[in-house]
Amino acid sequence: MDFKLSEEQLLIKEAARDFAKNELLPGVIERDEKQEFPKEQVKKMAELGFLGMMTSPEYGGSGMDTISYVMVMEEISKIDASCSVIVSVNNSLVCWGLENYGTEEQKKKYLTRLASGEIIGAFCLSEPEAGSDATSQKTTAIEKDGHYIINGTKNWITNGGTADVYLVIAQTHPEKKHKGINAFILEKGMPGFEIGPKEQKLGIRGSDTHSLIFNDVKVPKENRIGEDGFGFKFAMKTLAGGRIGIAAQALGIASGAYELAKEYSKVRKSFGTEICNHQAIAFKLADMHTQIEAARHLVIKAAWDKDNGHDYDLSGAMAKLYASQVAMDTAIEAVQIHGGNGYVKEYHVERLMRDAKITQIYEGTSEIQKIVISRGLLAE
Ligand code: CAA
Repeated sequence: MDFKLSEEQLLIKEAARDFAKNELLPGVIERDEKQEFPKEQVKKMAELGFLGMMTSPEYGGSGMDTISYVMVMEEISKIDASCSVIVSVNNSLVCWGLENYGTEEQKKKYLTRLASGEIIGAFCLSEPEAGSDATSQKTTAIEKDGHYIINGTKNWITNGGTADVYLVIAQTHPEKKHKGINAFILEKGMPGFEIGPKEQKLGIRGSDTHSLIFNDVKVPKENRIGEDGFGFKFAMKTLAGGRIGIAAQALGIASGAYELAKEYSKVRKSFGTEICNHQAIAFKLADMHTQIEAARHLVIKAAWDKDNGHDYDLSGAMAKLYASQVAMDTAIEAVQIHGGNGYVKEYHVERLMRDAKITQIYEGTSEIQKIVISRGLLAE
């Protein structure tokens, strides 16, 4: 067993850390306040190869492993989780899905531009009444004269207003239930494809979240991903890897909050000494650090499983379940350690606390992760 990162993994982690400190930290509070999409920062992340990290260079990606990807996710999330969710969705859900299940034509037409970050993508599964219960798709895709006609609404779509390419899950054969679901590639600007209003969010406010409305959107048959009826499996397989990315995001939020709290506790004084000298604070730091290390091991193990061809449904779900809880707990304690200053924007921890919450909700709530884990265990 070897817990050491390779030279290459260490280098990419360092590059992401420097990038986050130099390019994301300035302006992160303002972007959060104004709900401003980090357009310039996304461009720079594309230049660094962060938007198609695991995609093969043949299709415009960086060809790295999942461990490098989670390292980058952690470092970016320490500072700006709005940026890291853009990285996560583009890498894990859009590029990975297309590379693994798309046709050669689809890869040439869409993947190359997505992986290089020339354009970004969105993954559209959730609906007003199909969030956790993802098989209950109401969006329909009816085949007609060599095309599919798509109708329906999608909700809470990350990159909803800024993406150019959308992977949309829809029901083609309702009588077949989940076996009748398909996945399609849609482009912004297709007639009948409307982008709904931007959501006003508690956290990850720089990320661009919208509902999408489809009114008789005509999609060529060659834009279907996989065989007829493969759409639900496509969504599940893609999300299994996506959950590793969100687990890494949660890990980053937790580490970011912990590092700020530790530094603050070494300079802030009360009762004649730095507050880290009070056991009440020192024990909090000990708990935070221990839990973060445990989360890190789960995240890296899930990434390692994926890189080594092992099943990662369970390890990814466990990593997300645990790391998202650690993110929430750590961020709350970081605010507590900062006292009154923790409640003030310029100290960053209140933002991390708001950002942490979403990691327990998207790409499968914590309750859904427990379903995945328990079903997996009981099937063994
Ligand atoms: N890999 C391959 N197939 C899988 C799978 C996986 N990981 N998980 C399930 N399946 C298959 C099952 O084998 C089954 O197929 P068969 O009938 O052919 O065997 C089929 O999918 C249906 O599975 P279930 O019977 O288990 O379905 P269910 O209704 O009980 O639900 C669920 C399963 C795990 C709860 C699923 O609905 C789920 O994951 N829900 C959460 C959805 C989710 O994560 N949404 C997040 C939205 S995306 C997002 O947040 C992106 C963003 O922008 C940040």
